[in-house]
Amino acid sequence: LRVLVLVSGGGTNLQAILDAVDEGSITNTEIVGVISNNKNAYALTRAREHGVASRCISPKDFATREEFNAKFLAAVDEIGPDLIVLAGFLVVIPAEMIAKYRNRIINIHPSLIPAFCGTGFYGLKVHEAALKRGVKVVGATVHFVDEGTDTGPIILQKAVEVEEGDTPEILQRRVMEQAEWKILPQAINLIAGGRVTVEDGKVRIR
Ligand code: GRF
Repeated sequence: LRVLVLVSGGGTNLQAILDAVDEGSITNTEIVGVISNNKNAYALTRAREHGVASRCISPKDFATREEFNAKFLAAVDEIGPDLIVLAGFLVVIPAEMIAKYRNRIINIHPSLIPAFCGTGFYGLKVHEAALKRGVKVVGATVHFVDEGTDTGPIILQKAVEVEEGDTPEILQRRVMEQAEWKILPQAINLIAGGRVTVEDGKVRIR
């Protein structure tokens, strides 16, 4: 499976994927590229240290969003991925790309969707809202990307306990370590094994 990973930040989810490929817990898969919208993303360093082709494309580099969308989609098409993984990617995916790569784009979101998701719920904001609401269980979700925000068919979820004294930072770290870094590689491996289909808007895993 040819996998392209899109990143914006520290790249810990990218690292989990790279490590899983190296240790064989993701089979018959090659990470064929990494694209970031943030030239300072440490995720790019992780890619380069792993010998994965990486580049930076940002909406800021273009006069209009339409121009970025066209150049971005052309760059993705040139790589020719079977699967596109959004790993902490903070740029809205162009509708044309969603249509062209229907059910071939997945995203990791740091909550149990449909809780704490949608516009504005990213990074620490998710965990701040969870602590404010006083939920006892949080977690992460891997889902296919559709035209909405965090609204596509759910592939895998994993729950994580909220603990006494948790701060947003502590909770974020636990969700990453115990959930995100596990279910994202797992989802890629299932897709690589041809075990994931979408039927009537729901994901079926064989
Ligand atoms: C983190 O907030 C994570 O929960 C979310 O994206 C952000 C950056 O993750 N998935 P990463 O370290 O860049 O993978």
